Amino acid sequence: MISMPDHFTYDELSRDFSWSIAEKELEYKPGDRINIGWYCSDRICLKGHAEKTALHYEGFGGVEKKYTFNDIRLAGNTIGTFLRGLGINDGDRVCLFMDRIPELYLSFLGILKIGAIVQPLFSAFGDESLFVRLENAQTRAVITQKKHLPKVRKIRSQLPHLEYVIIVDGVKASDLEKGEVLFSLEKSEPVENLDIHPTTAESPSVLHYTSGTTGQPKGVKHVHYSLISQYLTTKWVLDLRNEDIYWCTADPGWVTGTSYGIIGPWSLGITQCVLDSGFSAQAWYKFIEKHRVTVWYSAPTAIRSLMKAGDEIVKSFDLSSLRHLASVGEPLNSEAVIWSERVFGKPFLDTFWQTETGSIMITNFPGMKVKPGSMGKTFPGIRGTVLDPVTYAPISEHGRAGLIAFQPGWPAMMRTYWNNPEKYRDKFVNGWYLSGDRASIDNEGYYWFIGRDDDVINTGGHLVSPFEVESALLEHPAVGESAVTSKPDEINMEVVKAFITLKPGFAQSPDLELDIMNFIRKKLSPLAMPQAVEFMEKLPKTRSGKIMRRVLHAKEWGEEIGDISTLEND
Ligand code: WT7
Repeated sequence: MISMPDHFTYDELSRDFSWSIAEKELEYKPGDRINIGWYCSDRICLKGHAEKTALHYEGFGGVEKKYTFNDIRLAGNTIGTFLRGLGINDGDRVCLFMDRIPELYLSFLGILKIGAIVQPLFSAFGDESLFVRLENAQTRAVITQKKHLPKVRKIRSQLPHLEYVIIVDGVKASDLEKGEVLFSLEKSEPVENLDIHPTTAESPSVLHYTSGTTGQPKGVKHVHYSLISQYLTTKWVLDLRNEDIYWCTADPGWVTGTSYGIIGPWSLGITQCVLDSGFSAQAWYKFIEKHRVTVWYSAPTAIRSLMKAGDEIVKSFDLSSLRHLASVGEPLNSEAVIWSERVFGKPFLDTFWQTETGSIMITNFPGMKVKPGSMGKTFPGIRGTVLDPVTYAPISEHGRAGLIAFQPGWPAMMRTYWNNPEKYRDKFVNGWYLSGDRASIDNEGYYWFIGRDDDVINTGGHLVSPFEVESALLEHPAVGESAVTSKPDEINMEVVKAFITLKPGFAQSPDLELDIMNFIRKKLSPLAMPQAVEFMEKLPKTRSGKIMRRVLHAKEWGEEIGDISTLEND
């Protein structure tokens, strides 16, 4: 169905590039209706692929389920009809709070089909993390599982906008509380026809939350037109072809799991596999072998964990199906690229983008020269640069570090931060969108990542706001002050470290530390939990009383502390 150009070179693809290439392939004209849910299911069926497998799911304990494109079309219709029946309207926020079960993927389509906005949240979030995101989005309905229901129930009374909690498994009707409803996809009559809401390019689609340095997490608003970027980057960068079996290891609670774990592959009519179980090298290799995975999109932390598991274990599996490997989320060290080439016969190709960008921005792809350790070049049609951190002028000198910035206008760019237009405006300087990362660009246009330009911690590919962890700590009765930064880690690159001063009358002890950790564990996601704690007499501060995380960070990383002229005198 899809015309696949056999590898064009980067220059050929960049010459005369226009996003209309994707519009034409998707038979979309400006002004037309565009609905991601329809494109990912109905259109693939209309193109004659109704019986092709769309999803091959494997859960804990080896449970397997298979869905064709017609099955996912019907499931989206059925869920969409159910939500409409409850009174969910276009523009309403519907949160997905589930493990990676099929209902997560199918509800995603159903919500979009009726023009509502999907708010996917990582199911390991604690009730406080869940609360701030549902409150901010004024979410009307949450779709969840029995196992996550206690977290929702705990915060329910503080969320006046949350009218419905929809449970997709195992709760007895008699155990339901007010506003809770059951929905079973298997027991529902499949809905053949659904009036797709007439969404157009700028209709909101997905609301992903991301962490910043200060303040609460920000809701990144995407629109249906994002499909144009997601489709084309999936095709060219992930190089998906009709016969591929694709595996994206990311959870749809994060943007990789939606842009490239749902929208990209399904809009191309590609079969994808989902493994809903924790990480183990053995289980992952077995999964690739069993499903004959050809294209694999993963993350550096997982790759480093596989490296640690060693080369021997790889040899006990037949991984010869693998054709193309790509990575995202954190710096991909050149050792990992070289290692994967040695053991899989293919290098992992690095890709760089963000929740805000919605689609891949800087990348390597087949037909391009790979420089291990570099993130590659801007995707055709993306205009990027690095800006001087003081003057914000583009740096023309090769190899000089600056702030990664992009010229807005690609289809998947966020449209705003939810209810926070000021924060959105702050992301732009002289017409450039500031990514918040630093890099240098070499003489061939390859970007070399340096680090983030803020205090946000990237642990194993997940962004953690030091502010969120500090706030949780401060709620404990013994904690006087707290400062959170990162410390180096072999597998996760960096992990969260907390510095704490105690209130008068409290003394440091292992029991108190445990008590504090147990206290914040309930509030944060496991990813944000500090892996190290240090009690201090006092924290380094500026004269105006601001805690200098920078000083603590430098100490952890053995770096020069730099200018500390504003440090408070003793
Ligand atoms: C931040 C965005 C969208 C992908 C998942 C993360 C870091 C992302 C790379 C890379 C070095 C990377 C950046 C970026 N990052 N890709 N290839 N090399 N760093 O989305 O949670 O919005 O995080 O992840 O710091 O700003 P996100």
